[in-house]
Amino acid sequence: MYTITGVTGHVGGAAARALLERGAPVRVVVRSAEKGAPWADRGAEVAVADLDDPVALAELLRGSDGAFVLLPTLPTGGDAEHRRMAGSISEAVAAAGVPHVVALSSLGAELAEGTGPIRWLHHLETGLGAGGAVVTVLRCCHFQEKVETVLGAVLGAGIYPVFGESADVPTPMVATHDIGEVVARSLLAPPASSEVIDVLGPTSTEREVADLLAEALGRPLQLVTIPREAWVPSMLDAGLPDALAREFAALYEAEARGLLQPQGDRTVHGTTPLRDTLHRVLAAQVTAA
Ligand SMILES: NC(=O)c1ccc[n+]([C@@H]2O[C@H](COP(=O)([O-])OP(=O)(O)OC[C@H]3O[C@@H](n4cnc5c(N)ncnc54)[C@H](OP(=O)(O)O)[C@@H]3O)[C@@H](O)[C@H]2O)c1
Repeated sequence: MYTITGVTGHVGGAAARALLERGAPVRVVVRSAEKGAPWADRGAEVAVADLDDPVALAELLRGSDGAFVLLPTLPTGGDAEHRRMAGSISEAVAAAGVPHVVALSSLGAELAEGTGPIRWLHHLETGLGAGGAVVTVLRCCHFQEKVETVLGAVLGAGIYPVFGESADVPTPMVATHDIGEVVARSLLAPPASSEVIDVLGPTSTEREVADLLAEALGRPLQLVTIPREAWVPSMLDAGLPDALAREFAALYEAEARGLLQPQGDRTVHGTTPLRDTLHRVLAAQVTAA
C-alpha cells in the first residue's frame, strides 16, 4: 500500500494517478471525506487526517510500503506553523515505521536559512532524515503550474508580472505531472539508501512564459518586471498576508542571488513542454469559471 498526502494538490494528485494507472494499491490522505470521494471512485482507499496531527497521521501511515509527503505552503506564512507541521509529518513517518518515504522539496533546501519558504523544506528533510525510513528527497525546480498564481493579473489586467529584475533568465520549469511520475517510480522501486534527486524540466525565461501564454490566449500581454522594493507591496496589494508576502520576497531574493541550484545525488528531467501545461492550466480555468 502506498500512502499519498496532498492528493487534492498538484504533485500528490499526479503521484496518486500515476500509481493507480499502474494498478498499485493507493491510500490517499485528505482533510475531509468529501475531498476523498473522487479518489474512492478511482479505486483508492480514502483516509482522513490533518498533516498537523501526528497521531492520526501515524495511524493511517502504518502498514504502508511507502509514502509520499509534502509540506504545504500555509496561507498564514507563519514560521512556527510550518515548522510544527514539518515536525508532525516527520514524527508520524517515524512512529508508523514506514520503510520508504518520498518527500517533495525544492532546489535550495540544503540551505537552513536565507531562502524564505524553502527553509521549512530543509526542516522537513532534516526531520525525515532523523527517522528510520529510507528517504527519497525530490528537490524540484519551479513548477510550470506556478503560472496559476498570476492568472488573476493575466486574465484581468492583461499583465504578466515578473518578480525579478530581468525576465530573460533561463530557468528550468517542470510539469507537476512529471514529478508525480518520479514519485510513483520511486515508490514502486525504492532505493537501498536515502538519496536526493534534483527534478528539473525544460528551460524557459519568464518572457517566453508570457509569450506562450499570450499565444494561447490569442491576445497580447504586457510583461511587467517588478523591482525589489515593490515585491512586498505588490503582493500585499494582491491580497497576500504580510508574513507570506515577506517569505516569498525572501525566496525571490534567494533566486536572484543564484542560491537555488541543483546539489543532489542525481538529476531527473521532466519532459512535458511548458506550452502543454499552459494550455491545460488555461483550459482548467475556463472550466472552473
Ligand atoms: N510552486 C513551485 O514552483 C514549487 C517548486 C518547488 C517546490 N515546491 C513545493 O511544493 C509544495 C507544494 O506542492 P503542490 O503544489 O503539489 O501542493 P498544492 O497544490 O499547493 O496542494 C497542497 C496540498 O496539501 C494539502 N493540505 C494543505 N494543508 C493540509 C493539512 N493541514 N493537512 C492535510 N493536507 C493539507 C491540500 O489539501 P486541501 O485540498 O485540503 O487544501 C493539498 O492537497 C510546497 O512544499 C512548495 O514549497 C513548489
